Amino acid sequence: MYNEKVMEHFQNPRNVGEMVDPGGVGEVGNMRCGDIMKIFIKVEDNIIQDIKFLTFGCGAAIASSSALTEMVKGKTLDEALLITNKDVAEELGGLPAPKLHCSNLAADALHKAIEDFRAKQ
Ligand code: FES
Repeated sequence: MYNEKVMEHFQNPRNVGEMVDPGGVGEVGNMRCGDIMKIFIKVEDNIIQDIKFLTFGCGAAIASSSALTEMVKGKTLDEALLITNKDVAEELGGLPAPKLHCSNLAADALHKAIEDFRAKQ
């Protein structure tokens, strides 16, 4: 059902865990299944220096979070805001159609974390 890249991210998720003293936090829930994703970012000089995630969800959601964190590290906030849910699914080499909605959490949570960071400045 899942391709190798999705399975690899699911089995070895990058940047998983809670961040101490994050600059911004974004949390979203998936209306379809009730799963939750939380993204923490640390920003310096307008660049995302560090990012971590906690995902209470399915394998596709965990793989999406993990892939997103790798896509985002080192990007400016404006560059990171351009990342879409579709980009995340593409980065994973695609997801099975019934699981596409699972990748929607990742970019949405990131965008919320950036909004939260900017609101605190
Ligand atoms: Fe809920 Fe995938 S089934 S995020």
